[in-house]
Amino acid sequence: MLLEGKTMIVTGGNSGIGEAIVLAAAAEGANVVIDYVARPDDTDDLVKRIEEDGGHAIGVEADVSKIDDVRHLIQVAVETYGRLDVIVNNAGIETRTSILDTTEADFDKVMSVNLKSAFFGTQLAAKQFLKQDGPGVVINISSVHEDWPMPGNIAYCVSKGGTRMLARNAGVELGKHGIRVVNIAPGAVDTPINSSTKSDPEKLAKLRESIPEGDLAKPSDIAGTVVFVASDHASYITATTVVVDGGIMQGGAGL
Ligand code: BGC
Repeated sequence: MLLEGKTMIVTGGNSGIGEAIVLAAAAEGANVVIDYVARPDDTDDLVKRIEEDGGHAIGVEADVSKIDDVRHLIQVAVETYGRLDVIVNNAGIETRTSILDTTEADFDKVMSVNLKSAFFGTQLAAKQFLKQDGPGVVINISSVHEDWPMPGNIAYCVSKGGTRMLARNAGVELGKHGIRVVNIAPGAVDTPINSSTKSDPEKLAKLRESIPEGDLAKPSDIAGTVVFVASDHASYITATTVVVDGGIMQGGAGL
């Protein structure tokens, strides 16, 4: 198994891409710490499913836009499983607003959930890896929009642009300690974040047309890449972004 005995935190781990990562990592032998802010029952169900399959997982309620909560999350992971090997900074939101109508509250929320959480998740996980005197992996679930404008979703794109530089800069700073920092950039994925597109048949048809693979990704398509990047098979990948987009960035507007 690719992640046997490794402890992995997944932020925003009880829905969408996060849920798929949790299940894939547990199936590969990881001890998974599922961070969540809402729907505790969904977390309990996930933990149950994993334990029934012989895996290991716990749920921890923590709002990762707050540094104290990130600290608490890492502390619980280490207390429960003895160490931390991988953090997946996955929690994310978007407001689908343009430059002209994004409010200060929209901006602050998107930045703190998407970028501040990844920044301090990286920092605090790295401090834990250094304490353990061992290697470690930080994975940020970014987006094709870390690089590619999405008109009408500007705060999200700006936050993901920040994570692009976070992975590069932190990857360079931490490389000498054996710590890898890698972004994974999905295209359009069939998760709640895309519910407004999915409920509009015209928008959905246009989106599908723009994807060379022909449809949105399933969350498990992204999770497979996360497992690989977290594993020792990817030991030479750092300070960069792995794109998992079905070709959407080459295919058209994608909106
Ligand atoms: C965004 C979606 C968008 C997709 C493809 C994702 O990062 O969250 O809203 O549909 O990129 O453009």
